[in-house]
Amino acid sequence: MQQAPAHLRLGVNIDHVATIRNARGGEHPDPVKAALLAVKAGADGITAHLREDRRHIRDEDIATLMAALTVPLNLEMAATQEMLGIALKHRPHAACIVPEKREERTTEGGLDAAGQIEMLRPIVGALGDAGIRVSLFIEPDPAQIEAAMRLGAPVVEFHTGRYAHLSGSERADELRRLSDAAALAAKNGIEPHAGHGLTFDNVGPVAAIPQVAELNIGHFLIGEAIFSGLESSIREMRRQMDLVR
Ligand code: PXP
Repeated sequence: MQQAPAHLRLGVNIDHVATIRNARGGEHPDPVKAALLAVKAGADGITAHLREDRRHIRDEDIATLMAALTVPLNLEMAATQEMLGIALKHRPHAACIVPEKREERTTEGGLDAAGQIEMLRPIVGALGDAGIRVSLFIEPDPAQIEAAMRLGAPVVEFHTGRYAHLSGSERADELRRLSDAAALAAKNGIEPHAGHGLTFDNVGPVAAIPQVAELNIGHFLIGEAIFSGLESSIREMRRQMDLVR
């Protein structure tokens, strides 16, 4: 049984700083500068997704982040041999295995760990052997948690996209699924994280789930930074999280 963590960690995903940089092909705005500012504003870790098509974070960003950061880097990656090689080369603190489809706009839905156990097993094993904390980005579904247990993953991150997009009683039902899943994961010794689509308005109920140890938040924070600045948007998210813990 996992103890309820006192401090809810905030991982700031900086992918979309790189999206804006890449729109003009230069170096500005620099995602590493954003990461350092995020840490100053209270981020406990930095998250970055190196996609197969390199649409935002690039290989050299991972190297620069590893050199510059004093907080843990959580590398989001597809379960491919290419990404495994990159993770083993850089050895980030954590690697979150996500499903990846080239044509999707963002990570739509969780990883089907239950349907891909044999494909995932060597990748989860190799990352773990290298001392990288493996997380599986899954739906809040008992079958997926059981797969994470069978794979020996120490962490799962629950996809909150459905929760974020629903409203009314459907949102309440999805929140219950998240809460039950977090309790089930923790009961089985797996640390539950959550993320995707979280905003100032919807973060509270997810942050209030006692077993959840970490939230990973990106798009909203970077978008909000246009209006209030990055430090201010992160500090406000931190405040919203702290209000319920
Ligand atoms: N967690 C994971 C595993 C993700 O892939 C992403 C981004 O797709 C996030 C968290 C952050 O989501 P958002 O950018 O919507 O806050």
